[in-house]
Amino acid sequence: MDTAKLLSEAKKARAMAYAPYSGFSVGAALVTSDGKIYRGCNIESSVFSPSLCAERVALAKAISEGEKEFAAIAIVGAPSGEEPKDPCYPCGVCRQVLSEHVDLKKFTIITEEAGKAQTCTLSELLPSAFVFEK
Ligand code: THU
Repeated sequence: MDTAKLLSEAKKARAMAYAPYSGFSVGAALVTSDGKIYRGCNIESSVFSPSLCAERVALAKAISEGEKEFAAIAIVGAPSGEEPKDPCYPCGVCRQVLSEHVDLKKFTIITEEAGKAQTCTLSELLPSAFVFEK
């Protein structure tokens, strides 16, 4: 998996963030098992609660195009107008939503710290995911 390419796609997505309320722009790049990339950015709302995280925007784009198998997601976030330097990990809601669509032990989260890629699995970030038997 090309982590540098995915982080670069996440940065492109971050440039589209609509984050006038928090002033914190996030970009995500979700890659399918066969290598297709779906980008997402955070989209805030003046009534706050409907605000969307970058990760869930990317996931919704992919699922609505029929994608079902995912390998990894790269995420970058920082105050709008600044270059990201600290790693940006998915929030608890996004971890749970992603968990329903991926293999927890294999799906990789890619973040960047001081220009260096860091990777971990979703099961490391969400060790006891809620599972609802369908
Ligand atoms: N945000 C994301 O898009 N993804 C994350 O992983 C963390 C937080 C957004 C939500 C909100 O628009 C802003 O960042 C500040 O929380």
